[in-house]
Amino acid sequence: MKVIAVNGSARKDGNTTMLVEMVFAELEKEGIETELFQLAGRHPHGCIACYKCFAKKNRRCAVDTDCINECIEKMEEADGIILASPTYFADLSPELKAVIDRCGMVSRANNDMYRRKVGAAVVARRRGGAIHVFDSINHFFTIGQMIIVGSSYWNFANGRDKGEVAGDEEGVQTMKNLGKNMAWLLKKLNS
Ligand SMILES: Cc1cc2nc3c(=O)[nH]c(=O)nc-3n(C[C@H](O)[C@H](O)[C@H](O)COP(=O)(O)O)c2cc1C
Repeated sequence: MKVIAVNGSARKDGNTTMLVEMVFAELEKEGIETELFQLAGRHPHGCIACYKCFAKKNRRCAVDTDCINECIEKMEEADGIILASPTYFADLSPELKAVIDRCGMVSRANNDMYRRKVGAAVVARRRGGAIHVFDSINHFFTIGQMIIVGSSYWNFANGRDKGEVAGDEEGVQTMKNLGKNMAWLLKKLNS
């Protein structure tokens, strides 16, 4: 079994990555393979609303000039998908929004490609707005017939500068519990 995490942060190896790695540590303890796909520096473009994905139905985005088709393939081969983002003005990063819009449209054009995969949101924030990011990510999972896994609190943790999330004790525990719950659910679904 495999879980892919797409990290929408513009900052490579920052707080969002650290949170994902906390979830990954629990998954790996249960023998589940993990892969981190960081969008920082890759500049995925937003959806151009060409609707060619609906005309072609070939499980690919017609705009093949950035990392989105690679992302689509990795999400399709995984059993679980983590979508992770920092909070930017109480919202998703534009990089993750590009993934949601384009992977989401290709999925809808192809009979919901991520149907019944397990989904989890991971969010980093300094102080406020994370619940909106969490909700937006969950909208992607629910419209695509995915199964959402939860934790002991909503899946976010606090920190501004790189590394600060490690000092948010409850946030760290939330990520560990998320990883444990995701591993438990994946094993149940795939047994
Ligand atoms: C453009 C921008 C907007 C931000 N807006 C918010 C915000 O609305 N609420 C908040 O709590 N933190 C906000 N932050 C802080 C980041 O969410 C926080 O530093 C987070 O830990 C960054 O994660 P990263 O290291 O993975 O990039 C913002 C940061 C940036 C760069």
